[in-house]
Amino acid sequence: MCGIYGYIQSKSQKKPLEQCLDGLKNLQYRGYDSAGVATICDGDLIAFKTVGKVDLLNSLIGSKKYELSMAIAHTRWATHGGLSTENAHPQIDYQNTLALVHNGIIENHIQLKQFLEKKDVTFLSQTDTEVVTNLISYFCNQMSIKEAALKAISMIEGSFAIVFIHKNSPDSIFAIARSCPLAIGICDHTSDVYISSDPSSFSSSSYHTTFIDSDEIAVISNSSLLIYDFNGKIKEKSGSHLVVKNKDITKDGFDHYMHKEIHDQSFLCREILQKRKHQDSFYFSELKKSEQKIKQTKHIDIIACGSSYNAGLIAKEFLERLTLFPISIHLASEYRYTFHLDKKDTTCIVISQSGETADTLAALRYKKETFLQTIALCNVESSTLTRECDLFIPLLVGKEISVCSTKAFTSQLLNLYLLGIHFSNVLGINHQKLISEINNIPFAIDDILSKENIIKEYAHKYSKYPFFLFTGRKDMYYTSIEAALKLKEISYIPAEAMPAGEMKHGPIALIDKNMATVAFIGNEEISSKTLSNLSEINARNGQILLFASEIPSHITKDVILINSNGSNTFAPIPYSIAGQLFSYHLAKNLDREIDFPRNLAKSVTVE
Ligand code: G6P
Repeated sequence: MCGIYGYIQSKSQKKPLEQCLDGLKNLQYRGYDSAGVATICDGDLIAFKTVGKVDLLNSLIGSKKYELSMAIAHTRWATHGGLSTENAHPQIDYQNTLALVHNGIIENHIQLKQFLEKKDVTFLSQTDTEVVTNLISYFCNQMSIKEAALKAISMIEGSFAIVFIHKNSPDSIFAIARSCPLAIGICDHTSDVYISSDPSSFSSSSYHTTFIDSDEIAVISNSSLLIYDFNGKIKEKSGSHLVVKNKDITKDGFDHYMHKEIHDQSFLCREILQKRKHQDSFYFSELKKSEQKIKQTKHIDIIACGSSYNAGLIAKEFLERLTLFPISIHLASEYRYTFHLDKKDTTCIVISQSGETADTLAALRYKKETFLQTIALCNVESSTLTRECDLFIPLLVGKEISVCSTKAFTSQLLNLYLLGIHFSNVLGINHQKLISEINNIPFAIDDILSKENIIKEYAHKYSKYPFFLFTGRKDMYYTSIEAALKLKEISYIPAEAMPAGEMKHGPIALIDKNMATVAFIGNEEISSKTLSNLSEINARNGQILLFASEIPSHITKDVILINSNGSNTFAPIPYSIAGQLFSYHLAKNLDREIDFPRNLAKSVTVE
């Protein structure tokens, strides 16, 4: 899985290789294990590939000037085959005639490889991508390039987006897809053609944009865009108009995007509250047409992965209390493989920062027809998720660069709280007390940010521990799940989250002086219970760091005071941000690669 980019020059003077490298940088959120670019120059295929990030390609390409009309490029998150140049894309076929880039998984690649090996086709990589490259190449010996590609996809199982070039058609790019996004944009001003897994990665301009639907093939040149269906018949597609504004996002003096994004959360939450303010409550104009459906709703299903899932977990009880609907929260990766009672009148909220997570999209598609309505809570307006859901609520936090989600997660949580208020307004349920509490969230965030130095000191002190337990109760337990995930993602230290009351049922066996426990006590009504559980850890010489609203000196001296501005209800937001700062400074102390941690991708586009 990965990011695919292609460019065909028309009236502009842009250089295809440079243009592709620029575009790839905007796609690195989809993986950064390796990068590559290919083109055809004077009838020869040329490819440059490297393990690591796109910037490394510049030195490989060097200063040589190539006269080119087009190029294709790729940034990889490894699925089949290790991190090596052989496994990087573009893959070149056994006849050295075509170069191909791929996002997705070819599920029957082993059978296809066996089929090709019987025809004496040889392989150099461990990738499923090389199999499809050679398959198309093999059929090109018997039929036209377009027919060969269609024949190949008729044999492939799985989901994919594929872009390739062929020596026999040196001015064209071929693009095929199945259940993976692939957009073609024709620039209104220059007629240059851009192809990408994500149209927001096109250069800043306006475009006529077309998405390739499943099992279609596009044959693209600087003078024509022809799209054929599975049977090879031309398809007329209307497309849409897209304006791309790709501002250069800077770190604004911070060492890392993650650090900047943590600090942005105070003003972003203020802006979100301001935007949603309506009379003496909060309102989503995007949901105006759905009021009848909200009234018909009897259940809410929430589907998401990773931090987006954790936002749903934390908000679940709040939403249930406010709407009086039973709420089910589902991990998208499990959703299709789990038994679900068919519940009538279900509103489904799908949460995703990127809107491209394959598990989340697959879960949505699995039951979409049975839902009363689907709402995407997402940061990317042009994403597949927002296109496939009935309604779209933007996160309004701007582009999040750091792989580890901070501001998008906080906005998801805040928006879920606000959605609860919106739903209860429509349903006529009173929630007035909550309004002033929710307005205080930005002040609670300011307070946390002002304590950064204290959090940093503790992060340094605790960076020697080899294992962490995160704990709390109720929504503080769910908050601790997200905090543990943050720590794992960027520090690579094992961290497990556990409800405080469950410690005694097994995990307490792990406790000794080498085990660090981070506890969140933001819900006063149950804090005495959590403190009792922590005493049990204390009695066994476990080291405890407490994030709490007061100092319980009998448990530990290591306490970071959190001021939730009088709100237990919304305490997960300041506590989560405290957890983000703790993980950030701990990982920084260990000199980890914070914005782009090993093995991760910001958007995981394979199931
Ligand atoms: C990846 C990222 C996580 C993210 C998850 C869900 O695993 O590394 O940070 O929470 O995907 O992504 P989404 O874009 O659907 O919110």
